[in-house]
Amino acid sequence: MSAFLSTHTRTHSAGALRAADVGKTVVLTGWVKTYRDHGQAIFVDLRDREGITQLVFDPSFSKEAHEAANVLRSEWCIGVIGEVRSRGGNVNQKIATGEVEVWVKSLEVFSKSDTPPFAIEDDVDTNDSLRLKYRYLDLRRPKLQKNLMMRSQITRVTRSYLGENGFLEMETPFMVKYTPGGARNFLVPSRLNPGSFYALAESPQIFKQLLMVAGYERYFQIVRCFRDEDLRNERQPEFTQIDIEMSFVTEQILQSTMEGLMATLWREVLGVELQLPLRRMTFAEAMDKYGVDKPDLRLDLVLCDVSTPSRTSGFKIFENVVNGGGIVKCLRIPAANAEKLSRSMLDGLTDFAKSYGVKGVAFARVQEGGAWQAPFAKTFSDEARNEVNRIAQAVPGDTLIFVAEKYKVANTCLGAIRLHLGDKLGLIRKGEWQFMWLTDPPLFEVDDATKEIAAAHHPFTSPRVEDEELLETAPEKVLARAYDLVLNGVEVGGGSIRIHRSELQARAFKALRISEDDQRAKFGFLLDAFKFGPPPHGGIAFGLDRLAMLMTQAEFMRDVIAFPKTQKGSDLMTECPTPVSKKQLEELFIQVKADLPVK
Ligand code: AMO
Repeated sequence: MSAFLSTHTRTHSAGALRAADVGKTVVLTGWVKTYRDHGQAIFVDLRDREGITQLVFDPSFSKEAHEAANVLRSEWCIGVIGEVRSRGGNVNQKIATGEVEVWVKSLEVFSKSDTPPFAIEDDVDTNDSLRLKYRYLDLRRPKLQKNLMMRSQITRVTRSYLGENGFLEMETPFMVKYTPGGARNFLVPSRLNPGSFYALAESPQIFKQLLMVAGYERYFQIVRCFRDEDLRNERQPEFTQIDIEMSFVTEQILQSTMEGLMATLWREVLGVELQLPLRRMTFAEAMDKYGVDKPDLRLDLVLCDVSTPSRTSGFKIFENVVNGGGIVKCLRIPAANAEKLSRSMLDGLTDFAKSYGVKGVAFARVQEGGAWQAPFAKTFSDEARNEVNRIAQAVPGDTLIFVAEKYKVANTCLGAIRLHLGDKLGLIRKGEWQFMWLTDPPLFEVDDATKEIAAAHHPFTSPRVEDEELLETAPEKVLARAYDLVLNGVEVGGGSIRIHRSELQARAFKALRISEDDQRAKFGFLLDAFKFGPPPHGGIAFGLDRLAMLMTQAEFMRDVIAFPKTQKGSDLMTECPTPVSKKQLEELFIQVKADLPVK
């Protein structure tokens, strides 16, 4: 044990000292951020997670400390005892402790540091792989420390809000029965049951429902979930949910309880008052106006459907798409942006659209009198054009952008163009918190090509009461009692009111074409449990990583996760995953393909 620590207790963090502390004797600990020898005196910026304090080693104050400081280098871990002095007129505005400095009487070196592979500063442009390899050094950067401290505050406030509102924090297994459907699972071989596997839980969904059957009424868990998905910025293979389930509730009760959680988080963590209730928008309206189920409402541009006038416009490309069952969507860019909206920006949209499987994007500039300046303007009948102008509320100077495609592709593509141009034209209002509940989504997803039907959320999601009768006749039209919470264009949470009557569940399974044998094999235990007085219930799960990313305004999800994985699911610091030895594999009764490495 360090003798220093047994006789001295830290009095302040490195971010705490102010002018009012001048004259005090203080004990500080931390890391050497920078070291400057000015001949006369040595200056060190001491860093800990709370901030930075300037230390002064002056031989006239302490010869001993000055001599000891001579050897200090970046990232050494030290403790000091010293006196707080004013910096007079020489205030450092960049740091909170900038009015003062600490004149060191005594220095303790806890440990030395090799020269770090990159400078530990926020704006240093170090390559990502190196930062992830030395993650513990990257994590010393003030920005990451701030993010992770805020993340800790988010979980603290969440626990206290949910606790105060009668929710019990309960744990559920990570190693669970594999059930097909949903995300791809990670599998864990069972040594004790040769040839059998656990799945790592993609979410505690079934268990939280069983806790409702068991009478716990209000459950929450801040829980790791595992999904073997293709990774993107907003996805990690292991991520954290704030998982919630409630009995005896309607959508309204559940949503207002969750709005209370959001309002408390924003108030206590960010000092921002949210206006409640949050806005609600149906899935149909979101698709119609924004082309996506998670609209970013910081941007006012909207889409509209101009299929009807396009069908008889005389413009063959549009006519053929509509007659073939597709749609024509239009995005109006108001005249005020005409100058910024360059020809090359518009031409670039064709390439942009290709990545969405769309062959072409058409655009027209609206002129005085409503005529269009466009290559296809002549083929478009005046009547159809006037009707498009009316639907799009176009005025002279506006630009209309069209995508003609199948419903889903047209919406996805033009929705993405909306965001892309909104960003390029500077129309996204940064700094706003645009929340909305997305409601009434379809219960099922039908594959265009194979016509296969799947649960859009999961098979226990309730249909809307008024749509129940469509389960047998037109399942694709059934809307769900499901909802997502969307913030600034990111889905931060999703959930539903569940089916709790076995007769309705059987009809949902039938619509999904899951045979009774399959139902038993996959969900037998849940169906059994539902024979024993299940309460009406519903729930939601928030993506904690996504919430933290938005609240800290981090650019990447990994900036709010202490030890994230790369796009390939690797941890570069521990170099995982790795091959394992033949012996380990034998113990698990597993054989790896001959051409793959074994340790
Ligand atoms: P869902 O699958 O929509 O619902 O997940 C809930 C929320 O978790 C976040 N999320 C992710 N975050 C990071 N990386 C990922 N790979 C990832 N996948 C999802 C999102 C999402 O909104 N059991 C249901 C919830 C319920 O019905 O109660 C569920 O897991 O923010």
